[in-house]
Amino acid sequence: SNTIGKQYTTDISMAEDAEFKAGLEGVVVSQTKLSSVRGDVGQLVYSGYDINELAGKATFEEVVYLLYHQRLPNQAELDELKAKLASYRELPALVVDFIKGLPKDARPMHAIRSAVSALGCSDPTADDNDLDSAREKALSLIAKIPVITAYFHRARQGKELLASDPTLSEAENFLYLVDGEKPSKDKADTIDMCYVLHADHGFNASTFSSRVTIATLSDMYSAITSAIGTLKGPLHGGANEGVIKMLTEIGSLDKVDAYVEDALANKRKIMGIGHRVYKVLDPRAPHLKRMAKKLTAELGETKWIDMSERIAELMLERKNLNANVDFYSATVYYSLGIPTDLFTPLFAIARTAGWTAQVLEQLAENRLIRPRAKYIGEEGKTYTPIGER
Ligand code: COA
Repeated sequence: SNTIGKQYTTDISMAEDAEFKAGLEGVVVSQTKLSSVRGDVGQLVYSGYDINELAGKATFEEVVYLLYHQRLPNQAELDELKAKLASYRELPALVVDFIKGLPKDARPMHAIRSAVSALGCSDPTADDNDLDSAREKALSLIAKIPVITAYFHRARQGKELLASDPTLSEAENFLYLVDGEKPSKDKADTIDMCYVLHADHGFNASTFSSRVTIATLSDMYSAITSAIGTLKGPLHGGANEGVIKMLTEIGSLDKVDAYVEDALANKRKIMGIGHRVYKVLDPRAPHLKRMAKKLTAELGETKWIDMSERIAELMLERKNLNANVDFYSATVYYSLGIPTDLFTPLFAIARTAGWTAQVLEQLAENRLIRPRAKYIGEEGKTYTPIGER
């Protein structure tokens, strides 16, 4: 008991000496070769490439290769990766039945998270964390999560579930499975670029939770299930759905100012604005804004983008806060006719590239992630028998 007492004293003093950062703000918890988020200058780097160098040039599949290998593929390597992803798209019957059995009014992020978890049940090698085996599971998840999303969306409408088309890219195949027809080149290219912009983003909350899960040597499916559950929240990936909800609520450009003033006065957050790391403009936002402007102009309906621009202008003026990735992606997806509750799933589909690459990086040099909390509770209480309380 002497030793236990000593241990206890040491732990308390260590915890009290350590500096506490609410929300782990600014705390560096790992090293990574995958991506760097430079909040002071508004720069995002994927394995050596500034995002502006990749956006509109590299395809999502090239970025997957980049995140897995820290270099861009040559044509043969890219073809091989694409063929592999296509070969992994088919879902096990157990998972298809699981998706069909879900309530039609389940929220898609709940459905996708649960179906990924079900994938783990149908893979007898799920717990094999050998790097080669984990890499195959990772690629299989990149290929399967879009199919899960599309199948749930079709199943809830009572529509037929289509077989994937191996000749289509990831973006094309997803849109094909959702809409039941092959997408236009413009639509597929826009979604592909959105995938590129969302593929990885340093130690964001969902990536961190995937790393925490795999660091216990759990398994790839559990890590990605954790990540999806974390992305879902309105302070993270859920914000893009929140933006459309907000725009619908406001209704028209002339009501924007009053809405924002009211939100600020009542300390309500404006969705799609602000960022933990970026203190200047999120470098992904201008790309999405450009796409949103083009798409809304083509549709002849600029209301959403006009409202968005006014909100962004006011938030910069009033709070010195900038638009983040979710702000304009909402209008992009809306203009493409994507159902609102598939906005966050689209983020999940793209970020699976980053999550899985980061999980593999964690596995390659693993150490259990186990931080500390500063105890601020009471001390020295004695036990009162229940009858005397
Ligand atoms: N609307 C209104 N005010 C905001 C705001 C927003 N979207 N984001 C931050 N603020 C204000 C806070 O009220 C706070 O102001 P105060 O100092 O006057 O109290 C200050 O800015 C700091 O905000 P805080 O929530 O502590 O920052 P954070 O680093 O913990 O949060 C986010 C970062 C992203 C969670 C936060 O900006 C947010 O909730 N944004 C909306 C949700 C969103 O778009 N998420 C997607 C992120 S990619």
